[in-house]
Amino acid sequence: MNALSIYSENNKNMSAGALYDSFIYPPFSLFDARAGWWQARKKQWIKLGIDSGEGRKDHLMSGYANALTTWKRVKNSPTPQVDACFSKSIFDPVLTELMYAWFSPVGGKTLDPFAGGSVRGVVAALMDRKYTGVDISTTQIDANELQASRFKFKHKPKWKEGDAARLHKAGIRGKYDFIFTCPPYGDLERYSDHPDDISNMPYEVFLGAFRQSVIDAARFLNDDCFACFVVGDFRDKNGTNRGFVADTIQAGRDAGLNFYNDAILLTQAASLPLRARGPFEGSRKLGKTHQNVLVFCKGDPKEATRKAGEVRPYSFPKN
Ligand SMILES: C[S@@+](CC[C@H](N)C(=O)[O-])C[C@H]1O[C@@H](n2cnc3c(N)ncnc32)[C@H](O)[C@@H]1O
Repeated sequence: MNALSIYSENNKNMSAGALYDSFIYPPFSLFDARAGWWQARKKQWIKLGIDSGEGRKDHLMSGYANALTTWKRVKNSPTPQVDACFSKSIFDPVLTELMYAWFSPVGGKTLDPFAGGSVRGVVAALMDRKYTGVDISTTQIDANELQASRFKFKHKPKWKEGDAARLHKAGIRGKYDFIFTCPPYGDLERYSDHPDDISNMPYEVFLGAFRQSVIDAARFLNDDCFACFVVGDFRDKNGTNRGFVADTIQAGRDAGLNFYNDAILLTQAASLPLRARGPFEGSRKLGKTHQNVLVFCKGDPKEATRKAGEVRPYSFPKN
């Protein structure tokens, strides 16, 4: 049997079915975001109105800022005009749901030092987690606040402007029960011109700042708790793989976190079939269609599991 077929909704394998019932999704080290089950659940999340500016390019960023200004002018309009103004991808809400349900307690506090879009904050709040995200970009934070204003929450997600390497200065206090973040992948995508935006830095400088941010976040994590970093490898200008995934594992270890689970998120192929030929024929580069989901534990994983409690899916409203 093909390894992926166990994920297929056509495969009514009894034991895999029971794993869906118990854990939302089979707790294997491959998350198949291409499969029907995943896509259908993602649609349910998107139907709720979650949205994020993640993945936008600079020109789209300014589109977003303009849209935001427009919306602020027509604030009383029932339908904010933001979505229609540009196309964008979002941080995967299904992955988000799984990470909260598997590795964080209901009512617990999540810290996200590189918040990016609103998805991790909104899903946290819908799943009764208290979320605080930090981002260097005020535009991003304004966009997230706007997104969040569309929902009613028990615990409203919070975003703070600041540098992930100086979380105390950004207003972070107390201890957290989960770290969940997705940092820039080096300069693969430049998010802003802010001098502390690590996506603007040469790799060695980027890595120093990133490592400092992992140390800083780990200090705010309670003992016996999990941390999840979603990262991806990328290449330098000569085409050599930087090894960012390995560097993230090392950064976690150096911050006192035990590297615990390594999973692959198999992402949509999208236009890859059209783009893959040249790089492969010219230099044997493989088209990248995955990201790495790295889970660490500070302290004892059994105690962290006890604290995270029973796995409960988000229960979507009936209509
Ligand atoms: C990879 S992006 C987030 C996109 C992401 N996939 C998401 O979850 O929406 C990382 C974010 O890190 C932010 N960032 C860059 N340097 C930062 C820093 N020094 N401190 C805090 N945030 C920073 C960027 O503004 C960007 O929003």
